[in-house]
Amino acid sequence: MTDSTTTYTGPERVFSGVQPTGALHLGNYLGALKKFALLQHDMECIYCIVDLHAITVFQDPKTLADQTRHIAAAYLASGVDPAKALVYNQSAVRAHTELAWYFNCVARTGWVNRMTQFKDKVGKNAEKASVGLYTYPVLQAADILAFKATHVPVGEDQKQHLELSRDIAQKFNNDFGVPNFFPHPKPLIDGPGAKVMSLRDGTKKMSKSDPSDASRINLTDDADAIAKKIRKAKTDTGDVPATMKELEGRPDIANLVGIYAALANISEKDVLAQHAGSQFGPFKAALADVAVEAMAPITDLMSRYLADPDELDRILSKAGDKAAEIADPIVADVRKIIGFRGA
Ligand code: TYM
Repeated sequence: MTDSTTTYTGPERVFSGVQPTGALHLGNYLGALKKFALLQHDMECIYCIVDLHAITVFQDPKTLADQTRHIAAAYLASGVDPAKALVYNQSAVRAHTELAWYFNCVARTGWVNRMTQFKDKVGKNAEKASVGLYTYPVLQAADILAFKATHVPVGEDQKQHLELSRDIAQKFNNDFGVPNFFPHPKPLIDGPGAKVMSLRDGTKKMSKSDPSDASRINLTDDADAIAKKIRKAKTDTGDVPATMKELEGRPDIANLVGIYAALANISEKDVLAQHAGSQFGPFKAALADVAVEAMAPITDLMSRYLADPDELDRILSKAGDKAAEIADPIVADVRKIIGFRGA
């Protein structure tokens, strides 16, 4: 169904989002936040804190706003400049929920049923999950397309959701005879940081919901905690190989090499060239140095931003207004295309 060819001629625009649920980790940073900061120099960028997605699982009303500020602080600390990019929270812009409803009527249940993230998350308890969790990727399509975004920087786990966004865009365009109305948004998933795995199990994604804190490096971890977690990271009995081919079938080592490459801004091949034959003790010590050097300024900046919640709120509110100015006319056009009276 997905067709990557489109004759869409509108402006290029970047959109992405992160959920305000729990502490962010190295996977979020390398898969998303780091790319957010890089892209803002070349393209128009809109970065959202997706609080509507967060409430698909119950969130304590007493902490939701603070969790949202926490993610805003992480965006800024990772280098997103509010003078260059919009940073706002999703619930402040009504276009998201409105377009999500229209897309619920465009997306097919068969498409949503295929979403592996929902299946992985609910396991055998699908009947107890909220309806919102089920249609979560439809809201994600609305997020992106409310801005006619053309590029979406995300980690690899979001690939299938992006395919759904493209299918929805294409079906809307086809059904209503508006071939170039929505672009087919392109995921930006390159580089070694796109799939950071657990430090305790290289076959499992690094995740906020892993019960073991040792499995992930949190953006709030201090230098000691980072070094300790890397020292304890799972390895095998060999040493650092010389070629990419030799990394095959060694997921824990491949993960550490990928993390090293992403943090040091070099290729995995270069990491191997520098450390081939090294035992894991010294390799982990070198990796800890690289990680602390990259992460310590972020942790530090984050606490500085969090110390001034009023300033964060000003940034979020101002960007929310600007985001609405972009999305509202697009959703007004959608209303006209659908044919509502008074649209
Ligand atoms: P969320 O909040 O789960 O994750 C935020 C971003 O972090 C990436 N990520 C990873 N990247 C590499 N390795 C990992 N181990 C890892 N874990 C998480 C995710 O791919 C994501 O880019 N559905 C989205 C939020 C969303 C969104 C959107 C994204 C809502 N609307 C529109 C893009 C466009 C999510 O739950 O991300």
